[in-house]
Amino acid sequence: MGIGMHRTFLAQQIAVSRRVKRSLKKSSSLMMPDERPQEALPWDGGVQASTDLKDYWYVVSTTAELSADRPHSVRLLGEPLALFRDAGGVARAFSDRCPHKSVKLSDGRLKNGTLECFYHGWRFDSESGAIAHVPSLPQDCALPKQCVKTFPCVEKDELIWVYPGNLADADPAKIPTKPVKTDYRQRGYWRVETMIDLPCDHSFFVENLMDMAHTPWAHDGVFNMRSDAMPLVPKWYMTPTGMYGFLEEYRTHGQLKTLSFEWLAPCNNEISVRKKGESWHAHLFFYNTPTAPGQMRHTFVVYRNVDRFLQYIPKCLQPPFELFIIHGDTVAMLSQARNMREGCPHITVATPSDEMAIKYRKWYSKAFVEKAPWWRGWDGKLDIEDLATSAMETCLPQFGRGVYERAAASTNSSTNAEHIVTMWKVQRRHRKPLGFEQPSSLPLAMVLGLAGLGLGIGLSAGFLAAKRHP
Ligand code: FES
Ligand SMILES: [Fe+2]
Repeated sequence: MGIGMHRTFLAQQIAVSRRVKRSLKKSSSLMMPDERPQEALPWDGGVQASTDLKDYWYVVSTTAELSADRPHSVRLLGEPLALFRDAGGVARAFSDRCPHKSVKLSDGRLKNGTLECFYHGWRFDSESGAIAHVPSLPQDCALPKQCVKTFPCVEKDELIWVYPGNLADADPAKIPTKPVKTDYRQRGYWRVETMIDLPCDHSFFVENLMDMAHTPWAHDGVFNMRSDAMPLVPKWYMTPTGMYGFLEEYRTHGQLKTLSFEWLAPCNNEISVRKKGESWHAHLFFYNTPTAPGQMRHTFVVYRNVDRFLQYIPKCLQPPFELFIIHGDTVAMLSQARNMREGCPHITVATPSDEMAIKYRKWYSKAFVEKAPWWRGWDGKLDIEDLATSAMETCLPQFGRGVYERAAASTNSSTNAEHIVTMWKVQRRHRKPLGFEQPSSLPLAMVLGLAGLGLGIGLSAGFLAAKRHP
């Protein structure tokens, strides 16, 4: 987007924001669920969160994804990283460039917990990144003094966090987690997580998670139905770390729920859903990591206190609900991305439920466009634009569906996602007319899975009983 076009884009957003503001009435008494932020800023305070993108911690992987036997490749804000576990199992993040001939270190292997380059077998100290071993160097020669660049890396809440800024500024206390998460495990909540790389800018996902009006439509037949659609006017306010919104009534499958949603700058979202008058509760955490322009890594973690039996069913027997949900959003976001790349504004006609997204876009323009020119070229040293362009152009012929499914298959936890998504015919379900409910194959597979499990337990019990009383 050129500078002129960018100014027009900002002016359009500000005009839309003013129109929406006039249409909203300030709410004096906000009823909030228990996860609400402690500090609320004035309704019209503007986004207070810092726009210094290098002064945040980002989720780059999960504990489950980062195996101890091989390095793992990812980008963060354009920077290629090699993630691995050292001999003590501690998660480490190196720049993914060998100081010898710039081969990707993530293509190498782990030798006794140290990273070994694939090309000539150089090894590096896991803590400092210093060259520790050069097999071809005569014994009387000193090791080269160069180091691989290392990044502060912390494992917290079963996630791997990396800080892209200066080492001296990396304060793990700034990792945006809440004590409530560790409580959930103790209170019997169970956790499901999914990680997936997607060929679209992370801002579409961040914005999508503040826009609750899309769910009956984009997720029809998954966790919502089109007949659930209702007027929505969220109450929301600024917080020191982002924005917080609340809906006193939100309907899924005909049941009324309360829903709160929060954006934690720069790229994380949370949604908390409760059934009215019951203990039913689900808390969803979304980490939308900007890997490179036009590319993101989405990590989706859900804690819930219901349907606990599901956690004991092997994942391969469960329908991949998280992928179904992500799929519905991705179809919309890729077509948005295409039209915005061709000069369309972010929002042309706004409703009250778009207000948070408009505020967020203003913050995004400041953080990612005005203050971070490197985001569009990485200091001119790396041609990220080519990368983004090729990712987006391959999406265009089919609005990205084929690309999305291939991306879904690129992370370990989503292995065979393409096959699974096709098998469950998500796309066909997505287009069913209003009134469509569950596809017959889904409950059938669940019944078969449960029947298989029951049979296994029955046979084991019978075998044990026969052994005890021969
Ligand atoms: S390029 Fe890595 S050891 Fe030669
Ligand atoms: Fe969605």
